[in-house]
Amino acid sequence: MCGIIGFTGNIKAQDILLTGLEKLEYRGYDSAGIAYFKENGKISIRKTAGKVKDLRAICDDNDATCGIGHTRWATHGGVTNANAHPHKSGNVALIHNGIIENYHELATTYDLEDRLISETDTEVAAALFDKFYDGENPIEAIKEVIPLLKGSFAFCIMFENRPGVIYAVRNVSPMVAATSKEGSFIASDLTAFIEYSKRYFIVPEYAILTLEANKIDLQDLNGNTIEPEFLEVDWDMTAAQKEGYPTFMLKEINEQPAAINRTIMPRIKDGLPSFEEDGIPDSFFADCNDITIVACGTAMYAGMVGKTLMQDILGIPVTVAIASEFRYERPVITDKSVVIVVSQSGETIDTLEALRLAKTKTNKTLSIVNVKGSSIARESNYVLYTHAGPEIAVASTKAYTVQAAAFYLLTCKLALVQNAMSEADARTFIRNLENVSDNIAEVLKLSDKVEQLTKRMLNASHTFFIGRGSDYTLSMEGALKLKEISYIHAEAYAAGELKHGTIALISEGVPVIALATQSHVYNKVISNIREVKARGAYVILLSMDEKITDATICDTHISLPKVPEQFAVFEAVVILQMIAYFTSTGKGLNADQPRNLAKSVTVE
Ligand code: AGP
Repeated sequence: MCGIIGFTGNIKAQDILLTGLEKLEYRGYDSAGIAYFKENGKISIRKTAGKVKDLRAICDDNDATCGIGHTRWATHGGVTNANAHPHKSGNVALIHNGIIENYHELATTYDLEDRLISETDTEVAAALFDKFYDGENPIEAIKEVIPLLKGSFAFCIMFENRPGVIYAVRNVSPMVAATSKEGSFIASDLTAFIEYSKRYFIVPEYAILTLEANKIDLQDLNGNTIEPEFLEVDWDMTAAQKEGYPTFMLKEINEQPAAINRTIMPRIKDGLPSFEEDGIPDSFFADCNDITIVACGTAMYAGMVGKTLMQDILGIPVTVAIASEFRYERPVITDKSVVIVVSQSGETIDTLEALRLAKTKTNKTLSIVNVKGSSIARESNYVLYTHAGPEIAVASTKAYTVQAAAFYLLTCKLALVQNAMSEADARTFIRNLENVSDNIAEVLKLSDKVEQLTKRMLNASHTFFIGRGSDYTLSMEGALKLKEISYIHAEAYAAGELKHGTIALISEGVPVIALATQSHVYNKVISNIREVKARGAYVILLSMDEKITDATICDTHISLPKVPEQFAVFEAVVILQMIAYFTSTGKGLNADQPRNLAKSVTVE
């Protein structure tokens, strides 16, 4: 997944492009480049392997007022200068986010091989646009090429003798655009240009956008004009800045109390859950025989939290599916099934395609999404927006907790509509949910203690996260967080399952993060912890006990504030997030931009 930006206007473009790319770097950061029109109408390109700061170092000052920029997460071809975008072929320079699946076939069919110097699908696209460009009609060239392409794309294209004009077209990969007094903008997401405009529109799929300094034109592939549907941003520029924190991730961990309040409070009316403002009717919840939750990564683990809660309270079958697997299974879904897709970005391709498959079976699809107007939000029958604000760090934290909070609200509403919970119990449940932000605020005060205990993690090669019930589902998220930003192998394990093989991996000093917040399985978990402790594990225990005096149980105990057990997930996960964070920073790693990863996986 990559970050793309374009600007054409009345002021210099280069700094807008470079600054915008820095804001998009979380989408991919292995190489970067810009292309701009020189005064003679020719296109100049600067690109390099490395980050945007390395690109800045090779850019010379210029007065260009129209250009495009790209920050890459390699899909085709290694991280090299030649494979960096923009790619130029003949009269055409372009940048691309997505995957052209049939690029080899196109290169052969249209005899493009001799023109290619990189290993990328993008350069084939540039050569194709140039091949169909007659020197007069860029839009005609675009109309002829687009139907030939298979796969996902968001292109920004410049044609050499069309100075000042940027053309754009997308399919699946995201692209938003805006105009301001400075000029016209286009980007993968609006964080790239929000300081210039909070009013933007989503570029419709297969629509051709022509951007000029003071004019934009949108038309479909048949030449029919399309009116942009403008949206207003509901957060401001500072939300996309660190505001004094050393990293976005630490800021976002600390933003969780406010993010949860912004997400749940508008949906609590007179002490009960209400989705009126989301346009989700009670009928959606009434005739629901079973629930399938589909997502990827952290979003899926938030879905696991939802599953545990929903199945426990509603007593109906709830399944969690990995989106990339769900797409190729034969899901057992009827028109009475509810399918909930979860996605922070709303652009994860596997989750989007899973949603499309689900919609062939039921019209009871609901998405839990953080980015307004994103593809998944627009394509699901109903959408429940979380209000976490922009999540810039690649490792998801506040998105997870607001997604979990959304599941708590949905579960309470479902239970009321299906008479699985009395109104009095629902009011108590909602009051407990309203207290979650305070509980997290309490736990955030333990950050120094958590940072200290991670010192024992820094040299670990393997770690285990164990628990039972909701603590087990939480362990999955804890393991992922640690893996993705500290590069330490971590495995989440059902505590009761360890004895069936994996305990063989426990040796002297192996860190085991154990969770024991659920009383109905507490004693069992403590027994399992003793089993690993007896074999030399270094045990960090998270529980709501005041303190643990028995040295055979753990080496370090984190005492969590006493809260109703069903709500312990929120405070416990913050500790796991901080364990991962301080282990990463303790190892001198970049917690915001871990290697090999990108924020939203819009390619398969
Ligand atoms: C989580 O820390 C990761 N960044 C990743 O697993 C992420 O949750 C997953 O790619 C899903 O992204 P989405 O929520 O935007 O769909």
